[in-house]
Amino acid sequence: MSLEVRAHYSLCVQDLDAAVDFYTKVLGGAPFYRQRNTCHVSLEGHHLVLHQVRSSPRWAKLGEEVSGAPIPHFGIIVDDERYERILSAASADRSVLIAPKRRRRGTALDHICFFVADPSGYPWEIKRYVGGAPPF
Ligand SMILES: [Fe+2]
Repeated sequence: MSLEVRAHYSLCVQDLDAAVDFYTKVLGGAPFYRQRNTCHVSLEGHHLVLHQVRSSPRWAKLGEEVSGAPIPHFGIIVDDERYERILSAASADRSVLIAPKRRRRGTALDHICFFVADPSGYPWEIKRYVGGAPPF
């Protein structure tokens, strides 16, 4: 394992099997360690841990929409091929929250993105940059 910058996400979910299915089949993650109420998933090189809880995940209900995006949200930046694969899987899964839209056209942040919601309601942004790598 290289020590590039990686993010760690730890989420409460209500149905662990449904969450694992979503993060595997829709977003393309790879589960690598599972216990009874927890599953660790590699998601685009980042460490995602899903924890099944009895109560509703309050965090997922705190958001609001700002400028056409659910805030707060998580996001992954992918290449064109992954973008199309995830969009197709999310459409089949009916988990698309906000349809694809081009944003920041003509700037260094020119990108196309859409939003999905996991089975517990967590919003994820799927983003691909137009015309090259992002400026970070
Ligand atoms: Fe975002």
